[in-house]
Parts: sequence; C-alpha cells; structure tokens
Amino acid sequence: MAVKLYWFDNFLPISHVCYHDQKIQGRMENGIKKTPSSDKINSGMKKTPSSLFSITELDDFYFQHLSRSPRLNIERKISLDGCSISGNLRHIDSHECISPMGGFGHRAGFDTPNSTSDNVYEPHMMVVAAWDALRKSIVYFRGQPVGTVAACDVTSEEALNYDQVFVRDFVPSALAFLMNGEYDIVRNFLLKTLQLQSWEKKIDRFKLGEGVMPASFKVLHDSHKKIDTIMADFGESAIGRVAPVDSGFWWIILLRAYTRSTGDSTLSETPDCQKGIQLILSLCLAEGFDTFPTLLCTDGCCMIDRRMGIYGYPIEIQALFFMALRCALQLLKPEGESKELLERIMTRLHALSYHMRSYFWLDFQQLNGIYRYKTEEYSHTAVNKFNVIPDSIPDWLFDFMPNRGGYFIGNVSPARMDFRWFALGNCIAILASLATPEQSIAIMDLIEERWEELVGEMPLKACFPAIDGHEWTSVTGCDPKNTRWSYHNGGSWPVLLWLLTAASIKTGRPHIAKKAIDLAERRLLKDGWPEYYDGKLGRYIGKQSRKYQTWSIAGYLVAKMMLEDPSNLGMISLEEDREKPVVKRSSSWS
Ligand code: GLC
Repeated sequence: MAVKLYWFDNFLPISHVCYHDQKIQGRMENGIKKTPSSDKINSGMKKTPSSLFSITELDDFYFQHLSRSPRLNIERKISLDGCSISGNLRHIDSHECISPMGGFGHRAGFDTPNSTSDNVYEPHMMVVAAWDALRKSIVYFRGQPVGTVAACDVTSEEALNYDQVFVRDFVPSALAFLMNGEYDIVRNFLLKTLQLQSWEKKIDRFKLGEGVMPASFKVLHDSHKKIDTIMADFGESAIGRVAPVDSGFWWIILLRAYTRSTGDSTLSETPDCQKGIQLILSLCLAEGFDTFPTLLCTDGCCMIDRRMGIYGYPIEIQALFFMALRCALQLLKPEGESKELLERIMTRLHALSYHMRSYFWLDFQQLNGIYRYKTEEYSHTAVNKFNVIPDSIPDWLFDFMPNRGGYFIGNVSPARMDFRWFALGNCIAILASLATPEQSIAIMDLIEERWEELVGEMPLKACFPAIDGHEWTSVTGCDPKNTRWSYHNGGSWPVLLWLLTAASIKTGRPHIAKKAIDLAERRLLKDGWPEYYDGKLGRYIGKQSRKYQTWSIAGYLVAKMMLEDPSNLGMISLEEDREKPVVKRSSSWS
C-alpha cells in the first residue's frame, strides 16, 4: 500500500497508489483565487522535496495553523436556556429584535462572505449569489442565529416542514460557516439541539429514548407578545412517524468539525456536551438480540426519509454510525461514565469495520463469488453465511459492475443483499475511513467508470438504480413522490456535491470534484438551487423539487471552498486508524 503524501505547494496528495496523475489545477482554473489562509499555510514551507508530509503531519500542521487563528471568545455566554415547556412548545421571552422576514431574514451588517473574517474568499458571481441565499435562510432565536431553514421557496404553495431547521440539512450550512470563520451560528445550533435532546419525546403513548435528537425544529416568532417559541419534531410529526437515527450522528460529527475548526475544545468538554454524546451512543451500543454489529433501523430513518426499502441495516446509517463513533473517541473525556463507554466504542468499531469491509463490500470478484454461492450451508464453515440466494442478484448489476471499482452495497441481512449503490453512505465511508484505502480508491474508480449513470448531468444520484413497476409498488408502497428516477428513487441531489468533493480530495482525485462542480455550475443558479433533479441523467428539475433549497446552496459552497483549500477537509475527514489490522479477503482489494 502506498503512503499518502502531500505536497504543500498545492496541498494535494501527490502519491496515492495510482490513477491520479492529475494534480489539482482547479484553484486558478475555475476562477477562484487562493485564499489568504492557504497562503499563510504555504508561506514558510520550503518548496523542496523536504516539504513532503505524511497525512498525519498534515493533520498536525493543520492543527497548529488553527491554533494560531483567532480563537473564539469562549467567555461569551449564549443564553439558550431558561425555557418553560409544555409538550413540544416552549415559550421564551424575546428581548432582541426578530428578523422582519419572519425569522430568516438577511441581517444588516452581514456581508458576503463575511465582513469581519480575515478568511477572505474571492468569489465569483455564483458564489456571491450562494452566500446571499444562504444568509437569507438563517433562522434567529432571541436574536441569535441558530440554524438555516431547509428551503426558502416562496413559490411553493405549501411549506410543509421545509420552513424548519433540519439537523441533517444544517450540516453543509455549518461547514460553510466554519470554513468562513463564522463560528457562532454553529455553536448556537449545537447548543440549541442539545437542549432539545433533553425534551421528553413521545409518539402517542410511547416514549422515545433519552438520547434521540430531533429531525428538525422551528422557531415561531410572536411579534405582538415578543415571544419566541420553539417547536421540535422527533418523528412524531414527520410523514411516516419515523425518528431520525442520523440526527444524533450528525450532531456528534458536527461537534467534532466545530472543535477541529475553531481549535476550541471548551464546548465539547462541557458536561452537557459530554452527556449529549453519551446519551446518543447509549442508544446504539445497548446490548440486545443483535447478531451483527451494524445498527438495525426502520425505513425512512435518514436522508431517505420515506419508504424506500432501506430498512434493516442501511449503509447510510452504518457509515454515519461508524464516523460518529470515531468522532466520539476524540471528543469524550476519559473519565467517569465515559471510561466504560470508550471501551464499548472501541470494541464496536472493531467489529463494525470487520463486518462492513467483509460483508457489505462488493466488487467484480466478490460478485462472482456470490453468483457461485452454495445455499443452505449450516455451521461455522459456511461461506454463504447469510444464505443469500444467487438468483436474487438483479440483472442490472452484472452490467453495472466494472472490472475496476467497487462499493458498499445498500444493505446486508439474512438472505437479503440490497445491491443498490447509495451515494451518501459510500462517501461517508471514505471520509470516516470505514473503507480501507484500497476500497476508497475502488469507490472512486466506480464513480469514474459509471459516471453517466451516477453523475450524468447533475451530481449526484442519491441511489442507483431506480426501482420501477411491481418492485416500486411493493417496496415504496406506491409512493408517487418516489417514482422511478425521481427524488430518493434515483433522483440527483446537488447537496451530495460536497460529499463527492470531500471524497475526491481525500482519495487524491480533485479532478473528479472539479468536473462535478463544473456540471453543477451550468444549472444550479439558473434553476434556482433545486432540491433535486429527475431522470436517468438528472436533466430535469425534480417533479416536486423545492427551489432555494438551502443544502443545495451550502453544499455547493462547501464543495467550492474545499476544492480551493483542501485543508478544509480535516474538519470532516478521519484518517485510517493504523493500529487496526486490515481485513484480509480473497477479493481484489485484499
Ligand atoms: C426531504 C429529504 C430529507 C431532508 C428534508 C428537508 O424530506 O428527504 O432528507 O432532510 O427534505 O430538506
């Protein structure tokens, strides 16, 4: 295995196994100037071969750089407490002004990208427009920014819950703000959602676990009474009444990104934050009837929040679970209750990475192995451990699988392998180093080999392929929103651009990100930042797609900023834990 090295001239890996002969050129090519921050990093580094750093050294250097950057005023207390509750509505006196736009207005003094930050970013038109739209999505609570609404689509007849702050949707917004040196909104969001976690959560007469984080929340402003009200949804209002398993994981991941980006660990070290992490993870690490280290979930518990046949052990949740566990290892203080929890996390990570790398991984050789599986094998010697019937391999897969490349499949459970490809889970697997370096390379190989199917004209398909006909009837329950090549069912989601970009940079292939960003730039602004696109190639604005969807906007900004300054990747990426043995398998990646 080749060691990943970084050349500080351009901040990119210059040696990573193979395939990436193209170094990044995009920083000037796409009309973006270098940031002062990256110049600061580059200055003082000699441009000689001795300025080759391993990824660990890069991490260290990045940390040192961060600790030099202006620190947060950690003395400042944000008063988000003191609320009195009844059900899920809390009334809080508001003493500060409320946005005239009903909670998500453009605030005076907020310039683009940031009037006070020294992290000045030279924007082009689309970037300026994106920042402007992102700022318009900001939600205020007691005059403090606490999040961004899911969409600011004024043309849409019904807001449904798109006027709420979704935890998962806020992540790209938060990353954009962090990259721009705007920390307060992220800190406030983390504290606000942490406070919501302590609410009693009930669906009908059934009480949810203490650690459950909300899917979304809404700030209601009563301008007469000068009262701010918070309403949160833990699944009890959501279509399908599903609790968001991903919210807690995203919260932990964001807490690490915040800590890493600011260099300020005082927030994550507060007893409240430590408790919040403990509660989230206790939900997932409880012992029970499970025979697998993966997390058993119901349909609709994550980004794909409708019935799409992802129940069981969906890749999106497993990858986020893995990443959150690894982030928690960095965030938890090894004292008190956390001591034992840390041990449980280590044990689970070990089992989870083995399970995922072994049984969820699919490449040409693996597929050929499954195709030739024997069935009804009993005992420990079984090769086909889950009794998967080869006839259940769908026809499309034989053509789709390239000779070079591979991916983590959608789901593995007894006699059931969901062979669909899902973008989010595979990108997170790369970022969390759930995928081995070889698997990460293979995932990107597959994206390149199947560019038309997975990227087409708009990055990136949420899943591939779409289901249709009888399968659509039984799997989705005839969902008219999830018809073939639409929405979650093979629709293309611009928000996924930031994840593709991060994965591309991490695997040393920024040219993939550049190509995807170029595609997005042809349409996104012109089309009014749609939530998703439809069709095999993603050519059509989605049937029921919202416009001015915040995570489409923020995802684009994050992708741009990350490509411009790849050191931003450190916020959201974890390097491989070299102490763990790499799983040996008979397929090409072992
Ligand atoms: C849709 C998406 C979900 C997202 C929400 C708000 O329900 O499926 O992932 O969080 O919209 O944008």
